[in-house]
Amino acid sequence: MKLADNKATLSFSNGSPSIEMPVYSGNIGPDVIDIRKLYGQSGMFTYDPGFLSTASCQSGITYIDGDKGELLYRGYPIEQLANHGDYLDTCYLLLKGELPDAKQSTDFHKLVNNHTMVNEQMQFFLRGFRRDAHPMAVLTGLVGALSAFYHDSTDITNPEHREISAIRLIAKMPTLVAMAYKYGVGQPFQYPQNNLSYSGNFLRMMFGVPCEEYKVNPVLERALDRIFILHADHEQNASTSTVRLCGSSGTNPFAAIAAGVACLWGPAHGGANEACLKMLDDIQKMGGISKVGEFMEQVKDKNSGVKLMGFGHRVYKNYDPRAKLMQETCNEVLAELGLENDPLFKLAKQVEKIALEDDYFVSRKLYPNVDFYSGIVQRAIGIPVNLFTGVFALARTVGWIAQLNEMIGDPEYKIGRPRQLFTGSPRRDIKG
Ligand code: SDX
Repeated sequence: MKLADNKATLSFSNGSPSIEMPVYSGNIGPDVIDIRKLYGQSGMFTYDPGFLSTASCQSGITYIDGDKGELLYRGYPIEQLANHGDYLDTCYLLLKGELPDAKQSTDFHKLVNNHTMVNEQMQFFLRGFRRDAHPMAVLTGLVGALSAFYHDSTDITNPEHREISAIRLIAKMPTLVAMAYKYGVGQPFQYPQNNLSYSGNFLRMMFGVPCEEYKVNPVLERALDRIFILHADHEQNASTSTVRLCGSSGTNPFAAIAAGVACLWGPAHGGANEACLKMLDDIQKMGGISKVGEFMEQVKDKNSGVKLMGFGHRVYKNYDPRAKLMQETCNEVLAELGLENDPLFKLAKQVEKIALEDDYFVSRKLYPNVDFYSGIVQRAIGIPVNLFTGVFALARTVGWIAQLNEMIGDPEYKIGRPRQLFTGSPRRDIKG
């Protein structure tokens, strides 16, 4: 970051001395006012619950232009990456800052493939769960448990430990997500087959059974790989900020990523794809397209607490570029499976059309986000609704790790420790 040819001056109406603060610029995007000395000079904190106007860090990984609806991974537009190489090439880019050449790509694929199995002891953790446990509860536990198996690489300050932990987490997440699914349906776990692609391996671990050969459908394989690319990273979203804050204490990468999994589970964040599909199902049960108007009235009634899931975004005030690519992927998968007339997909397109013409949504700049179509395409592939967020966590693991490693590699980083505006009881003594 570089000092801008600008300064911020904070003045107070009560006559307190004004304070000058430096302004810094990045390469693209808004400048920042450096308030690090504010408390020391004024005895006051800034106040920004939800961090709507707060930059928590400097980062060179992912950039979003919410007004343009633009998403760049290390400078490359998501539209290009969705059709260039595969998810592991995107992982390489996010982790190392450059796209791999042919040899680097081959070596990276081989390296990840050498770590796809989990310790045999991991399966015993699942036995403690009820069969109907939500897969995100299982996954949060399994990812945290990984830290018990890799004492040789839990020193986050050691670059080699960070490197091998990144590979282990990227390689093992598909295995763990598939194990959570198999446990829920009472089928035996499928070991990874390293002659398959990353997404092909996941499909086989999910839907393969010991009694017959599993043939990977190349259209579904490509669609899933693209879904992974679209979910790989997204600046300082809630779960990434959780991973950064958790990792800032120096805890091991597995524990920090487990914290990210737990945060992503929430319906306002990664849980929105599951909530969106349930919402579309509910509208379908109400009577389908003819009832969309009635549903929209509920959404617009603040007292209903009903939100249009899969719509709106803290940063995008234009169409989420991922939603467009997800809709295309949806079209491809439904056509491949002969489901072009899938009622939920037709309903979703009608909901989107109506919302984009309704002033409530237009005036609030609410557009479809990545979660609006991802549930429909995952359901068509055969992924159960309660596993959608697990797939999101699988794909986002590389982003979490890249952001965590960037933070730990920044000499300026400190343990995160926000302050507060205290509105509770002043000091008082216990009576009697
Ligand atoms: C993800 O941060 C990321 O990058 C996240 C993510 C990633 O890749 O990591 O992109 C993934 O989490 C996508 C978002 C998935 N969530 C949903 O689809 C849930 C539904 N969306 C909303 O909950 C909401 O839009 C948020 C949480 C996504 C964003 O909320 P904000 O930025 O805090 O916006 P807001 O709540 O202040 O909304 C502004 C207005 C409010 O109305 P008014 O007070 O102005 O009258 O818009 C309304 C809100 O009530 N609004 C909605 C709405 N989203 C916002 N009204 C109806 N339906 C919605 N979905």
